Formats: sequence, structure tokens, C-alpha cells
Amino acid sequence: MKRPVRIAITGAAGSVCYSLLFKIATGEMIDQDQPVILQLIEVPEAMGALRGIAMELEDCAFPLLHSISLHDKFEEGVVGAHFVLLLGAKPRGPGMERSELIAVNAPAFADQGRAINQFANRDVKVLVVGNPANTNALCASRNAPDLSPAQFTALTRLDHNRARGILANHTGANPKDIRRVTIWGNHSNTQFPDLGHATIYGEPAMSQVDENWYRDHFIQKIQKRGAAVIEARGRSSAASAAQAVINHMHDWINGTDENDWVSMAIVSDGSYGIAKGIVYSFPVRCDYGRFQIVRGLKISDFARKKMTATEQELLTEMKTVADLLPKETEASH
Ligand code: LMR
Repeated sequence: MKRPVRIAITGAAGSVCYSLLFKIATGEMIDQDQPVILQLIEVPEAMGALRGIAMELEDCAFPLLHSISLHDKFEEGVVGAHFVLLLGAKPRGPGMERSELIAVNAPAFADQGRAINQFANRDVKVLVVGNPANTNALCASRNAPDLSPAQFTALTRLDHNRARGILANHTGANPKDIRRVTIWGNHSNTQFPDLGHATIYGEPAMSQVDENWYRDHFIQKIQKRGAAVIEARGRSSAASAAQAVINHMHDWINGTDENDWVSMAIVSDGSYGIAKGIVYSFPVRCDYGRFQIVRGLKISDFARKKMTATEQELLTEMKTVADLLPKETEASH
């Protein structure tokens, strides 16, 4: 039997976690033989609700759930964590853009980065879900100078899954037969869901869909899907976000299919001419617990414009949080 691993999760009494925690406890995130210790973190006002969720987890008698601890201080909840899932943040409401949350959410992510740097396991893998996810991940990573930027990621797998699901419904294909979809850039309405390299049943997707549908409907539909769910439900995506977290972490830990790739927002190394240092979504392949950007994709003029627009938005967001970003040093990043 493997030794249990520690997973620290913020926003643990929130609606995404109400799906997520039960999936983690059944082994969907890591492996069917990997016991887990859940270190659940919430704000003091939500500790009552969190205790209720802990009771429900216990009542499921999950064989892989080694133990649960509850915390209202991040610094305590993150101690020794091998995986940190940062979901806790003020969510947007109807009619808002995610970037409007920067001022209220980003400072907490800078603090959390400092605490992860100090208290988490040295090999920790961090996923930021709270919005604006890319810029929050930037704040966390830059405040963790003893860890590698490659230990911090933000979630664009939800957009990636949306693109595959919506393309599948449009074409009648099964999502499993849709490959090599890419989300470039920000988890915002400037993101670029790119079908230029995608395949359906191994054939180019673009030869199987109408170009105007792709340019005028599909791209916007993915960009605005989060807002459409909020409009329809009155609150943001929960179960689909949980599924995306599971997929993101599972593939990061266990590797991706060699004939496919996934989208992850990671600290840019300058690939594809994207500004170094911003947290930008790229096509990546994972192996042995590491991700690598897919190299050598041909970028059309159309794609380049879209990739630049979302890069510009991230550069603007980075300026907004400049006060939260300590200067990089040679020794750290
Ligand atoms: C989503 O994409 O559904 C989430 O980021 C929530 C939101 O604000 O859209």
C-alpha cells in the first residue's frame, strides 16, 4: 500500500468542492490505489459548513480517504502538502468580467504563495482555480521564490473540455475522438480556443466544420461559456469546474496520451513568442509529473492575432498587480 499524500484545498466548503472532494476521495484525481489526506481550508465563517462536508465524507467510508483536517488558517492547512488546490476566492456575478476580481482576490494569492513557499512539501504541485486564475497564479508563484515556477499552474482545462464537448455535439463525434484542441492565453473572454491543429477521428477538425461557424460562433461560445452558465444558473460552474480540476491534476501527475495534448496555464518561458513570465495557457504534454509545451505548431496570422490579444490582456493584468510581485532574482526564478 502506498503512503498517503497530502492535498490542501481552499474554498473547501464552496460549490466546486462539493463535487471535487468526493471525486478526490474515490481516487479519480491521482490513482485508484493512492490514499489521501485532505487538509481542508476555509474562512472562519464557513467552518460550520465545512464540518458538515467532513461528516459527509466520513459517512461515505471511502477506503482511500486516510484522514481529514479542517483549517481556518492557510498557513496551517498547507503544511507538508504535496498538492495545493486554490479554489477559495470571491466569484464573479452576472454581468461581471473575471478581471474585475483582481483587486479583491489577488492579494490573498500572493499571501498564499508565501505560505506555500514556507510550509508545503518541496515538490508541491499548485493549481489555481479562483479567478482571475492566471494572474492569481502569477502572484502566488512570484511570492514563492524557493519553488520553481513550474510548480504553479492555473486552470484552463475547463475551457479545453468545453471546446471538446461543444465541438463533439456540433459534429456528432464522441469527445474521446476529438484531439489536439488548444486553449491559448487567459481564462477570460480573450482566450483563444484554437481548432487549427485539432483532429476528429484523426482528420483535421477544420475540414469537418464550417470556417464561419468556427470564427463567428465557436470561439465566442467558449470564451463566454462561464458567463453563460452564470446567467442561466445564477451562479458559476461547479461540477464542470470540479471535473476539470480532476482532469488537470490527473494528467499532470500521471501523464497525457501520446497522441493528444491538454491545455494548462503555466508560467511562459517565451515559447511561441509569448512574453516571458506571464501565466499563459499553452498546449502541453505531461510525463513523469512534469509538463512540456508542445513545440513546433504552425501559427496562422489569424491565430497569432488572437494569441497576441489575450497576451496583451495578461500583460495589463500583470501591471495591475505589480505591487504584489517581488522582483525576480537570479537565484530564484
Ligand atoms: C468558469 O469559467 O465557469 C469559471 O471561471 C467561473 C466564471 O466566473 O466564469
